Amino acid sequence: MISRTLKGARHTRCIRSYLSSVFFQHHYPQVVPLIIRGAQNLSTLPGTPSSASINLRSTTSTSHVPSEKSTLVVPDPSPPSRPARKTFQHFLALARPETPAFLTALAAVAVGTGTTVVFPFAIGKCMDAMALGNTKQLVDRSKGTADGTLPAIDTTAAHLSMNASEFIEASFGPGVIPAWVMDLIPPDAAPLSVLSAGLVGVFVVGALATFVRNTTVHVAGERIAARLRKRVFASVVHQRLAFFDRSGTGEVMNRLSNDVTQVAKTLSEDTSYFLRNFAQGAGALGMMLYTSPQLCAIMLGVIPPVAVWGVFFGKKVRDLSKQMVDELANAGSIAEERISNIRTVRALGNDELEVGRYAHQMNNVFRVAKHKSLMQGIYYGVAMGSGNLGMVTVLYFGGQYVSEGLITVGDLSTMLLYSVYAGFSISALLSYYGDLMKAAGSAERIFDLLETEKTPSRGRVTPTQVLKGAMDKEGSRMKTWPQVRGPLIFEGVSFAYPTRPDFPIFQDLDLEVRENETLALVGPSGSGKSSIAGLVTRMYEPNAGRISFGPERVPLESVPKEHLRKSISYVTQDAVLFSGSVRDNLFLGFPDIESSHLSVDDGLNLFPLLEKQEPFTFGHGVQGGNAWNMEERMSRVREACRTANCLAFIEQWEDGFDTVIGERGAQLSGGQRARLALARAILRDSHVLLLDEISAALDSVSEAALHTALERVLKNRTTLLIAHRWSSIQIADRIAVLGDGKIIEIGTPQDLLSTSYNSAFRRLVEHQLKAAPTM
Ligand SMILES: Nc1ncnc2c1ncn2[C@@H]1O[C@H](COP(=O)(O)OP(=O)(O)OP(=O)(O)O)[C@@H](O)[C@H]1O
Ligand SMILES: [Mg+2]
Repeated sequence: MISRTLKGARHTRCIRSYLSSVFFQHHYPQVVPLIIRGAQNLSTLPGTPSSASINLRSTTSTSHVPSEKSTLVVPDPSPPSRPARKTFQHFLALARPETPAFLTALAAVAVGTGTTVVFPFAIGKCMDAMALGNTKQLVDRSKGTADGTLPAIDTTAAHLSMNASEFIEASFGPGVIPAWVMDLIPPDAAPLSVLSAGLVGVFVVGALATFVRNTTVHVAGERIAARLRKRVFASVVHQRLAFFDRSGTGEVMNRLSNDVTQVAKTLSEDTSYFLRNFAQGAGALGMMLYTSPQLCAIMLGVIPPVAVWGVFFGKKVRDLSKQMVDELANAGSIAEERISNIRTVRALGNDELEVGRYAHQMNNVFRVAKHKSLMQGIYYGVAMGSGNLGMVTVLYFGGQYVSEGLITVGDLSTMLLYSVYAGFSISALLSYYGDLMKAAGSAERIFDLLETEKTPSRGRVTPTQVLKGAMDKEGSRMKTWPQVRGPLIFEGVSFAYPTRPDFPIFQDLDLEVRENETLALVGPSGSGKSSIAGLVTRMYEPNAGRISFGPERVPLESVPKEHLRKSISYVTQDAVLFSGSVRDNLFLGFPDIESSHLSVDDGLNLFPLLEKQEPFTFGHGVQGGNAWNMEERMSRVREACRTANCLAFIEQWEDGFDTVIGERGAQLSGGQRARLALARAILRDSHVLLLDEISAALDSVSEAALHTALERVLKNRTTLLIAHRWSSIQIADRIAVLGDGKIIEIGTPQDLLSTSYNSAFRRLVEHQLKAAPTM
């Protein structure tokens, strides 16, 4: 067809190679990395903000932890930007499980495009058939002439005498419509009715194809989003604690919600839109080439400058989108922290100050958003304008060709309709590029997070395995992991927090908590008492030295962290309860609770499945081998609450253990929270207990009651009791005093209080007793 109408093969080659380079070789998987690479090259232009300068990245870059014992490396605050090819590979990896859905969508795109593209062609042909009405002339015209020009048209011929079959044949050419379809046409049917009925049939197929494409792609998108969110959340939960020391909650939440939504939307919805527009644009251009190669070539001349603009602004939009997400994340962090600590904000009388802080951050967000809106406006304006420009071009040159007799009015109509399609498609493709750039920004943040090195032993052990290990004592189960028990031994331990590597907390610290003893750890605030508990539970790793447990001196790092933590009752200094009921919170103390106990319908609720699952086939710890049904669990819960001195107030409440306690236990008093946290730890029933300031929030009567009960619980267990007050440490067998990163004194209370030498501990106690003689 090209050689028939174009004068000169050179011209034809030119157009062919142009089309092949611009459109036909740009299939989806290849075009995207090319564009992203192009945009990245543009990013090196002077004045373009470097993505490495964006502050969020500094907190999420891959940190490397060379060994358990070595110093944690604080990541480089401005790591190099991730290569676009890698981001694209991640995109593909995310989309890969959805291949069947995407193939179905592709098939639907092909069908849908076919049905759409047929319309302008049919319209043009019909217009010519109605205007010219001469079958013979059209057939002759469709064959063309030897010299490649079109024969002159006799516009005087009448068309009204044609029946439907003749009309169809005249419109589409003889033999184009299959004979079986032609046989369906009643002999006396009106041409227009048959054509309309045919088009309705075609459009019904098109509508079905659109339905299939949309549905499959959206479902795939939601699956990708759900999968990605699960991965991101799991990744966040498994991050080292140093990650949380650096990153704000708002920032992490932003990744979980906004970034994931953007990536999933681009991979599914936008990609489906892209495929449709790509196919429709290619189809329209192909048909334009078929109808009038000259006009098609003229229209295509408009595209390259527009594409360059598009890429340039697309890159700008990406950078600004990323910047905006960073600013929003900062705002999110402020809001999250202030709202969750509203009591402190109010107690400080800083309501207005915090409102101002947030407003200030919002102004930053708005400044970037305004800039982004401007760029986006230009970007989409150019995209839209370029499509319309193509249409005007076709109209202008097409009109001239009609008057020169090179094409018919029907051809021009066809071309115009196709140029509308092509114009919309080009605009849409450029928009897609903008979306892709936005998603690339989000994807970078997500993949940075997913690739950050996490705690090494995650997922290696389930609570069930933990329990099997613990039950080995009775010989009823195969031993999986050594039982965590006393003594706890620190040998030459040095430690600094990863965020402050130059500020050592301990240097060459030695300490032994003997088996079955209660060792009280005292020392000034900030001396590192809580840090010791953090090291025992491997929240952080020491930089040097060794921590081991049990008579066999098993190194901490030789057992999985999950096993370690499930086997230790640890009440943290700032013990937190979660939203839900008292019972929900207490049940978290059972070491055998695992995700399989979660109700599918209500992810927060553990109990329906626990109730169904009785009796339990495994038990735990000292008792070992218990079969815990719901009743037994509740009696353990009651017992733990009695010990922790919280049963009385729980039973006073109308809903008892079902009382809802609000986010972080906000509906409870500080002392009630502390006692519930202690009960939760007692339920764990471990050999090793770490109790960090458990009685700090209690009055002296409650504290005395707690100590009486605790004495029973602590019997035959190895306990590290962190406390300040003499009243809290009287139950200890020995006392260790921490100071200057070392244990400066250790001994029985009698030893340390003996008047024979002037111990730091004695001075501390005497000071307290003087200050509060009733304690
Ligand atoms: N996550 C952290 N990142 C960096 N430094 C920390 C972190 N947690 C604590 N520190 C620092 O480590 C030191 C010891 O803190 P730690 O919480 O162990 O003290 P403490 O003896 O328990 O004090 P207190 O009696 O007040 O509870 C302090 O100087 C503190 O500033
Ligand atoms: Mg502390």
